Parts: sequence; structure tokens; C-alpha cells
Amino acid sequence: MRRKITIVGAGQVGTTVAQLVAYKNLGNVVLIDVVEGVPQGKALDLQESGCLQVFDSLIIGTNDYKDTADSDVVVITAGVPRGPGQSRSDLLATNAKIVKTVTEQVMKYSSNPFIIVVSNPLDAMVYMAKKVSGLPKQRIVGMAGVLDSARFRTFVSLELDCSLVDVDAMVLGGHGDSMVPLPRYTTVSGISITDLMTKEQIARLVDRTRKGGAEIVGLLKQGSAFLAPGASVMKMIEAVLLDNKRILPCTAYLDGEYGWKDIFLGVPVKLGSHGIEQVIELVLNPDEKAALDKSAQDVKEMIDEVNAILAE
Ligand code: APR
Repeated sequence: MRRKITIVGAGQVGTTVAQLVAYKNLGNVVLIDVVEGVPQGKALDLQESGCLQVFDSLIIGTNDYKDTADSDVVVITAGVPRGPGQSRSDLLATNAKIVKTVTEQVMKYSSNPFIIVVSNPLDAMVYMAKKVSGLPKQRIVGMAGVLDSARFRTFVSLELDCSLVDVDAMVLGGHGDSMVPLPRYTTVSGISITDLMTKEQIARLVDRTRKGGAEIVGLLKQGSAFLAPGASVMKMIEAVLLDNKRILPCTAYLDGEYGWKDIFLGVPVKLGSHGIEQVIELVLNPDEKAALDKSAQDVKEMIDEVNAILAE
């Protein structure tokens, strides 16, 4: 039987994920949104590209959660972007309510989906989805590290004028300014970039990675990045549906790992058919651990806000 991938939010990221998943023939796709007509229109448009792109998955656009029944994977991109004058806290409250409703609807029709949350602020939204869904920690994850490390990899390859495919990178922590790109674990064909670049070069690339999302927002003027985010989600879906057992940085629920509990944080995990099959604990030096703790502290503050909303 074909696998079923539901994408909640037929916006920029959701549509990109739908397209990439369809091109890879990973399964049937359900695109769902609150706006009437948009998911249906985009789904039909994508379906009509099937004979040209050579895929035969079914692409369904809908506003009815019944159509999402028995999904294997659910991607949550629903939310509103940060408006002018809106604080991060306001955005958190607005999107937390959206993610709460969406998760309740999803869980009504699918008993054991693997959920990937994309909505921002990411670390808080994936925590909300976990609490509302009641899913075990292996079945829910946030997409941040794959994107942040893809950005770091890109900047390294541009700096060294070397092939992107030879660069690997690791970024830990929350999906915000305090994220923790790890130069020691960032390599070009196995050679750490600490042996290939000066400290100043590395610091510049780390800073650009931390501000990677804002750089795109600044250029686009309207909306935020969606091509690399969409590709990042697709890699995670592929790892689960094809049981690739990829080791990828993902926003995972921690239960004591790295010294933190009841928090979602970017860490390396193994992704396979059971979802998060392992959280890998890297040996961090004191500076790296301090940076991760600072990032975790920032995330914890947002999680307190989510818990306050849940208690309302
Ligand atoms: N249920 C379903 N869909 C919803 C809901 C809801 N309750 N509320 C909003 N949406 C939909 C919107 O109608 C829109 O189509 O979510 C979609 C969001 O799409 P975009 O505004 O294009 O945002 P996008 O660029 O796709 O980003 C989505 O990912 O990277 C993050 O910060 C980003 O939180 C944002 C999310």
C-alpha cells in the first residue's frame, strides 16, 4: 500500500514539500489548509505535472481533516508570519493556538503518525504539538537542524571554493539566534574546518548561519525561506519512509540527554522507520556545552509560555 503524507498549510513551505515528495514518489500527498480552494488548486496543479515529472502518487487538496485519515507522516507548516510590530511572544501565542488546533484535528484521524513540525517559533511549536498529540518522543520532531546545517555547509563550500557534496556540518540547539553551529564537527571530506580555515573565517560563517533565516527574509522583503526548508523536510520524510537511518540534526524531545529534560532541542538523531531511533550525545568541550545550555535556556523560556497557554 502506498504511504500517506499529510501536509498542513498549503503555503510556501507546504507546497514545496508536496512538490518534492511527489517528485520522489514517496507516497500519496494530502495538502490541507484553512483557506478554501488554495490546497485544492495547488494539489490539482501538482497532480497535472505528474505525467511530465513522472510520478503517479495521488495529490489531494482539502479543508477536511477526514481526508488525512491514517497518515504515515504529517508535516505541520500552518501558522502566520510575524507581522510588523508584533513581538516574538505575540507570534508564539498566535501560532501556538494554530498548532494546537491542527494537532488535535490530525490526531482525531491518525493514531500513530510521525509528525514533523516546521511552524515557528519552532522549538515552542513542536513542544505544543507533542503535549497535545500525546505521541511518544520517537514520533514527533521539529525541522531546524537539517536546514541550519545545510546553510552552514553552503557557506563553508562557498568560502573554500569546494564542492558542496563534500561538506558535512553539525548545528545544535534552538532554531534561533542562539543556535550552536559546531565547527569541530563540521568537515570537508572528513577534515575538520578548524584545520582548513582561520578562527576569523569560522566566526564569520557561524554568524551568517545563525542569521541565515533573517538574511533570506531581508532579501525577499515578503515571506521567508521555503526552498531549503522544503528540501530539509523532504530529506527527513525520506529517511523515515525509506528507513534510511540517517544521522541528522533534528529538534528532538530530550529526557535527560545533554543534561536537559522536558524540552525540544536540536541534537543529532538517527531517523528511520520507527521515527527517532536514537539521540546521539556528542562529547562537547566546555565552550560548546555552555553555548548549548544558553540556547536551551532560551528555548525553556518559550516552553514556559507554551505551558501557560496549555494551562489556560
Ligand atoms: N490550519 C491550516 N492551515 C493554516 C492555519 C490553520 N489553522 N492557519 C494558517 N494556515 C495556513 C495559511 O493559510 C498558509 O497557507 O498556513 C500556511 C502558511 O503558509 P505561508 O504563510 O506561506 O508560510 P510558509 O512560508 O509556508 O511558512 C510556514 O514555516 O518556516 C516556518 O516561519 C515559518 O511558521 C512559518 C511556517
